[in-house]
Amino acid sequence: MTDKLIIFDTTLRDGEQSPGASMTRDEKLRIARQLERLRVDVIEAGFAASSNGDFECVRSIASHVKESVVCSLARANDRDIARAAEALKPAARARIHTFIATSPLHMEKKLRMTPDQVLEQARLSVRFARNLCADVEFSPEDGYRSDPEFLCRVLETVIAEGATTVNIPDTVGYAIPELYGQFLRHLRERVPNSDKAVWSVHCHNDLGMAVANSLAGVKLGGARQVECTINGLGERAGNCSLEEVVMAVRTRRDYFGLELGIDTTQIVPASRMVSQTTGFVVQPNKAVVGANAFAHASGIHQDGVLKARDTYEIMRAEDVGWSANKIVLGKLSGRNAFKQRLQELGIEMESEADINAAFARFKDLADRKSEIFDEDILALVGDESATPDEEHYRLLALSQRSETGARPFAKIAFAMGGQEFHAEAHGNGPVDASLKAIESQVKSGAELQLYSVNAITSGSTESQGEVTVRLQLGGRVVNGVGADPDIVVASAKAYLSALSKLHSKVDRVAAQG
Ligand code: KIV
Ligand code: ZN
Repeated sequence: MTDKLIIFDTTLRDGEQSPGASMTRDEKLRIARQLERLRVDVIEAGFAASSNGDFECVRSIASHVKESVVCSLARANDRDIARAAEALKPAARARIHTFIATSPLHMEKKLRMTPDQVLEQARLSVRFARNLCADVEFSPEDGYRSDPEFLCRVLETVIAEGATTVNIPDTVGYAIPELYGQFLRHLRERVPNSDKAVWSVHCHNDLGMAVANSLAGVKLGGARQVECTINGLGERAGNCSLEEVVMAVRTRRDYFGLELGIDTTQIVPASRMVSQTTGFVVQPNKAVVGANAFAHASGIHQDGVLKARDTYEIMRAEDVGWSANKIVLGKLSGRNAFKQRLQELGIEMESEADINAAFARFKDLADRKSEIFDEDILALVGDESATPDEEHYRLLALSQRSETGARPFAKIAFAMGGQEFHAEAHGNGPVDASLKAIESQVKSGAELQLYSVNAITSGSTESQGEVTVRLQLGGRVVNGVGADPDIVVASAKAYLSALSKLHSKVDRVAAQG
């Protein structure tokens, strides 16, 4: 056991399983680079065997990330594991994470396998994975609801086969902190070779206790790896939130006594990047990364903080990267300054032509908005990085009219697969009219599940509006995000981006399917 806590980020795998959160390869790569700047120890880049797209994502992240270990999930079978190993080949440091369910319910109803068959499959899979990769993690899915005696047999077996990390998932978020901590401790005490592997926690947030459970797994259970996601992104109520776990361990070092490798000043930029990319907005009162996390509204608190900061603050906003919210560029900034800022933000563009196109958009934005923040650049580059397939639908022009007493009207031109279309419609408001105009041509039949507008940078009506649109069609849910100082334009962009995602039809095998 070491006194370092390993931070294993699964935003790009478990986080992405959240309905509507699917990301493109370039978006994932950008987030992976931010995770590397954050210095997470392990990046779970995806589930290589689930689709060709995921395979390419894992491979691309494995080729670019040099500091963090890059990991791919794989079900406990040779095909998945070989596919993960293949995708991870370019990695400087690679990990294969293989899993099979061990709870009675999952084994009987989902896998239709006996416990002995599951044990044997776990053994053979870890053996096979170890022949391909020195770093192998094993997870008994639904581990927390598994029979402890059986789980001990499985864990002892996989450690004997060379698993270097064993992870105990609370797959359905059923655990209670004290019980989960004791469960882990019991397993570690009962498994004879437990000291040969790092123990890890993986908690879902269905009862709002993912962070508390993970910390109990560390403190009471002796785990030395936490699996988590930025903003707690993930299926249903999400996963354990990276920023909360990291700041709890750092702020209460007196209690946990553990070292972390994380550069906490990169937390807020990572949070923003993930929320802008996925369209999953961070609630204002969210710990550490919410807009209000460091805002003191009451007079008593303000007075106290001015006199002595630690009267009401246990962390410093700048330590988690809040100071990054600064004006970076304006209308007079040149191409070099823009290019340098892209580099500072860790954004790499493939060619000079891409930089030129992004710079043209930047100039266009700077003409309409006097102060350009990092968040504006991230949104702009998000627009720019879409490949032709990801941008099957693209806004060309929009005009709209709304005045008191008259029915709002919108006229729109957009590209669909390279062809130009024009449409117009009336609606209850200009946004409604614009989306109806698009739908009159596209006829997607998709159901609008969510529409939300947020200011990208706070405190001014000059801010760009960032719109998230969630569409559902035939069992698929996608989020589209669009940004523009004009929220009607941002809405049309978000709607077209969601339609493009529906068009791209990424078919995947579900990790827990
Ligand atoms: O929640 C879970 O059980 C998982 C496993 C695949 C590790 O995500
Ligand atoms: Zn999970």
